[in-house]
Amino acid sequence: MESPRVEPFVRHHRRYDDWFERHPAVYLSELLAVRALLPWSGRGLEIGVGTGRFAAPLGVEFGIDPAAEMLHYASARGLRVARAVAEALPFADAVFDRALIVTTLCFVDDPGAMLREARRVLRPAGALVIGMIDRDSALGHEYVAQQADNLFYREARFYSHAEVATLLEANGFHDLIWLQTISAPLSQIGEIEPARPGTGRGSFVAVRARPMALHHGHPREGWQQDEPAQPKEHAKKPNSAVARLNSAVCVFAIPELPCAGPSPPST
Ligand SMILES: C[S@@+](CC[C@H](N)C(=O)[O-])C[C@H]1O[C@@H](n2cnc3c(N)ncnc32)[C@H](O)[C@@H]1O
Repeated sequence: MESPRVEPFVRHHRRYDDWFERHPAVYLSELLAVRALLPWSGRGLEIGVGTGRFAAPLGVEFGIDPAAEMLHYASARGLRVARAVAEALPFADAVFDRALIVTTLCFVDDPGAMLREARRVLRPAGALVIGMIDRDSALGHEYVAQQADNLFYREARFYSHAEVATLLEANGFHDLIWLQTISAPLSQIGEIEPARPGTGRGSFVAVRARPMALHHGHPREGWQQDEPAQPKEHAKKPNSAVARLNSAVCVFAIPELPCAGPSPPST
């Protein structure tokens, strides 16, 4: 049985995906805010990719999500998808240049583990971009007040931008850059709203963060969590990380398959 946070997406995938058709100006405002922060090139992963509404137009080619029903849409939009959770990504260390998390942080059971996994799969020069509704915003307050009646957000745990900054810095990220958009109620947004720097006025915020450098294999002061172990095999075989990624993708390109671990490529 799916967790209560995933179940609405399993059951109401079409309704979720249709929302973007009914709110094009909101969707495009959010998409442009994320696009402004996400590096343009390199191998990309969206964590909690859903139906691929962000990853596909941003050229992010890989996506994971626990809801296979959502992944069908992402796959149809050209993404290479895996059924998996953010807290245990089915990829080797340091194989992505850019990672994306859009309105998914509030659904995971362990956001610290999610961010540590994102950091683990990112290359040292990579970047993580998070897009989300800021709980400390007009829309954030509205979502919290009406949460019990919201089909999708009933079980979500909303975060403020300040909490996300703390979470990022506690889990191996730094150099945060923030953008914001959606400064009016959703019903009044009829045109694309350009993203502006900072936080505090927009209900949708996006942040770019860089992986923190390790000092002699240890996190810098202030990073509370343990650094995930680097499998020794990667040191011996430089190409094994990519080989593992590719074999995982071969298996997980079929969204119905459970995320049991990589198998050898079929060719
Ligand atoms: C609001 S949707 C966002 C989807 C997509 N990022 C977008 O912006 O359209 C939240 C997604 O998080 C996924 N999700 C829930 N728990 C998750 C977890 N532990 N790891 C990864 N994704 C999760 C859900 O299945 C759902 O597709």
